[in-house]
Amino acid sequence: MLDVKEIDAAYGRAKVLHDVSLNVNRGEMVFIVGRNGAGKTTLLKTISGLMKPAKGYVSFEGRDTRGLTAVKLARLGMRYVAQDKKVFGNLTVRSNIELAAYASGVAMPSAIERVTSIYPDISKFMDRKAGGLSGGQREILLIGRAMVGSPRLLLIDEPTEGLAAIVIEDIMRILTRMKEGSEVSAIIVEQNLSVVNRLADRIYIMKEGKMIREIADKAQMTDTSEMENYL
Ligand SMILES: Nc1ncnc2c1ncn2[C@@H]1O[C@H](COP(=O)(O)OP(=O)(O)OP(=O)(O)O)[C@@H](O)[C@H]1O
Ligand SMILES: [Mg+2]
Repeated sequence: MLDVKEIDAAYGRAKVLHDVSLNVNRGEMVFIVGRNGAGKTTLLKTISGLMKPAKGYVSFEGRDTRGLTAVKLARLGMRYVAQDKKVFGNLTVRSNIELAAYASGVAMPSAIERVTSIYPDISKFMDRKAGGLSGGQREILLIGRAMVGSPRLLLIDEPTEGLAAIVIEDIMRILTRMKEGSEVSAIIVEQNLSVVNRLADRIYIMKEGKMIREIADKAQMTDTSEMENYL
């Protein structure tokens, strides 16, 4: 459902991605691992249309995405959850969900139902300002917002970064449920290998802007020793 074909990407003259290819099949949860600065975020930004590749292209559901904006891609069902966990801090959780409902043309009650089906506890925070939520609650709100309007592909950048172990378990549960429903595909950037090996259908390893390895073998995915070499 997603094909990334030999893309290069750059910030000004600084080339950051070199000939990167990757693919995602329907219902698959694919992980990307790699050191800080390897180019993982740049890759997600390029897939989501926020950056234009200097070479190569991305095909989504059989459609060449060159020329499509990030907003258009989001409408087509590609949702990007950025690494910074930024919410609309001055708005309530409910209003944050409302904005997602509006953006995807979904009625508010079904948007709320969608988010609470993913994380029932969120109903306790509905009328709180989103800026007062913990990092984990913010991440859950962002994943919930991305799920409004039945997306086809989620791109999630380091969902567990900086979170306490107990909250990581909440995120794990949400991702597991998402995977079991298997209506949505996902690319998740993650450096916590115990999260990766519990959820991954396939793993890609990036190093210095290149895709250096793909692991699809179950036994190799559960043995993290090789991946550790790249972190
Ligand atoms: N806005 C930018 N302008 C210029 N260079 C950038 C910019 N953002 C990232 N870079 C550079 O591009 C390279 C890849 O960065 P990127 O953020 O994609 O890596 P990453 O794998 O996501 O790292 P991390 O694990 O720290 O999030 C790095 O060398 C980084 O310094
Ligand atoms: Mg990053």
